Amino acid sequence: MKSKRQYVCQSCGQASPKWLGQCPGCDAWNTLLEEVVAAPTTASPKRRAGYAGTANSAPIALSDVTLQAQDRLTTGLVELDRVLGGGLVSGSVVLIGGDPGIGKSTLLLQALVRIAAREKVLYVTGEESLEQIASRARRTGIDSQDVTALAETNVERVLEQMQKLKPQVLVIDSIQTLFSPALSAAPGSVSQVRECALSLVNFAKATGVSVFLVGHVTKEGALAGPRVLEHMVDTVLYFEGERAGRYRLIRAVKNRFGAVNELGVFAMTDRGLKEVSSPSKIFLSRGEGPVPGSVVIAAWEGSRPLLAEFQALVDQGGQSDRPRRVAVGIDGQRLAMLIAVLARHGHMPMQGRDIFVNVVGGLRIMETAADLPLLLALMSSALNLAVPQDLLIFGEVGLAGEVRPVQSGQERLTEAAKHGFKRAIIPKGNAPKTNIKGMQVFAASNLGDAMRAFRQCVGEELKDV
Ligand code: TYD
Ligand code: MG
Repeated sequence: MKSKRQYVCQSCGQASPKWLGQCPGCDAWNTLLEEVVAAPTTASPKRRAGYAGTANSAPIALSDVTLQAQDRLTTGLVELDRVLGGGLVSGSVVLIGGDPGIGKSTLLLQALVRIAAREKVLYVTGEESLEQIASRARRTGIDSQDVTALAETNVERVLEQMQKLKPQVLVIDSIQTLFSPALSAAPGSVSQVRECALSLVNFAKATGVSVFLVGHVTKEGALAGPRVLEHMVDTVLYFEGERAGRYRLIRAVKNRFGAVNELGVFAMTDRGLKEVSSPSKIFLSRGEGPVPGSVVIAAWEGSRPLLAEFQALVDQGGQSDRPRRVAVGIDGQRLAMLIAVLARHGHMPMQGRDIFVNVVGGLRIMETAADLPLLLALMSSALNLAVPQDLLIFGEVGLAGEVRPVQSGQERLTEAAKHGFKRAIIPKGNAPKTNIKGMQVFAASNLGDAMRAFRQCVGEELKDV
């Protein structure tokens, strides 16, 4: 068996026969590492089998394909099931990425314990000892006697054990610790990660076993390992949140079996992760009385509305040559654009002023419906106008100062009404056809309208006290 030497970019997976300072694939510097690839006799037949796991297939009309009802296995965690698109599909491979310590192992262990009551499961750890895992299971306070665990990093031995135990669900924690003896590259290198993931994907497709792969995240926030890992698996989930904070969010960035951008919410407690079924409540942990710069938005996350709180702080003080613009939880570019819109169409120039914007609770809101609330939060902070607590805002704002409608306006309003909001400033295009009980709606077609409505709401508040 003759093995081949090649140089593989550790960031994009591009292979080159000789060492290069700069990767021809992704232009990164000093990312090529020497890796030895085993003779093709072992690797290539597997590779030709393709991700779907069928080696000798013939073309067929799509209409002739028999559709099997997708078997979905509930994980016992409603928030996780929702993100998966309604449960775990048999034979699917799910990659879960997230920072170290965010709770990936805890989440999967808790799901496995619940699945184990109905199906056989196997938890393979390459990171922690079995004692550590057992003690964590005990801490979460649920009975884990049906969960079989294995401390192993050799992917071939993992597959051997799979043949023997025949579990229905497999967790690999983590894919970066696995290695295949067919390759001499170090565990965690691009070729090892790719090779191991490929064996597991093929195994899942051939046997119908569902596989969870835990993946590490690099400093830049991307999943470590080659991009191809994301292409090989069926579903990619990110588990995120502020480490110091209590709340953890899980979202799908790719899902062959469901919608992406679904959001699952958990809280980390001293007894493991707890599901949060009514997230609007927690992201609205509002202080006493109205404060300037803090507004509530009805965001849209996947298939449900979510009320969240924006806080803006516009420095009142002196002029700075290099004003700071800090955006946490929203896109910084978008903030820069909105500041320009506010200057031009709202007649509120912000030159030389430091501006800080934050979404409470570690949420990230990337949708355009955040434009209007953000602008009004800036205005409120700059003018020191306290925002009434029963006021809800959403809407997209264009460069010409026009306020544009966003999707699912009615549902957003209903959610807000449910949580006791009495007034809303929204795009004219989203104005409800029928009245929403107990909700006074200000429909704005441009930023000027919205700012007037905002002042009116603030003024009424002033009269009240
Ligand atoms: P872990 O699942 O090990 O994270 P990951 O696998 O993503 O690296 O989670 C570890 C963190 O969660 C750890 O810092 C401690 C905390 N934790 C709790 O606060 N309560 C608990 O019950 C458990 C099990 C963990
Ligand atoms: Mg872990």
